[in-house]
Amino acid sequence: MLAGHGLDEKGLVAAAVDARTHARAAFSNFSVGAALETGGGEVIGGCNVENATFGLTVCAERVALWKALSEGRDTFTRIAVVADTDDPTPPCGACRQLLWEYCGDIEVILANLAEVKRRLRLSDLLPLPFDARLLK
Ligand code: THU
Repeated sequence: MLAGHGLDEKGLVAAAVDARTHARAAFSNFSVGAALETGGGEVIGGCNVENATFGLTVCAERVALWKALSEGRDTFTRIAVVADTDDPTPPCGACRQLLWEYCGDIEVILANLAEVKRRLRLSDLLPLPFDARLLK
C-alpha cells in the first residue's frame, strides 16, 4: 500500500506517477495517479478505476483516500495528482469535498509526467466548504 516514506515533493510526485501506471481507464483513456502523504510521512498511492457502467468510476484521489482511511491513517499533509496533460488536472468537485472533510486544508500539487504545474491549498479549490461544523 505504501509508495514511500518521508519523501520530498519530487518523490511524492514520482509516487503519483507510479500509481498512475495502475490506472484502469479503458473507457476514458485518461489515466490519473495520486499520492497522499500522511502526517507520519507515509505515502499512499491511488489511480482512477473505471468500469463499464461509467458512473461507478472512482477518481485516483478518492482511491488513495479510501486506502489511507481504511488502513487507519487520519492525518494528512499533501496530495500530488498526476495526469499526462499540459494543463494541470485538479481534483473533481466530489474529491475536493471528501479531501476537505478528511484531510483539511492540505497542499495540492498538480503535475504532469515532466514537471509540477501548480501548487495550491485545498481551500483555494474549495473556498466556501460545507462540512460537519455546519451540522449544528
Ligand atoms: N479523474 C481522476 O481520477 N482524477 C481527477 O482529478 C480528474 C478525473 C479520472 C476519472 C475518470 O476515470 C477519468 O479521470 C476521466 O474523467
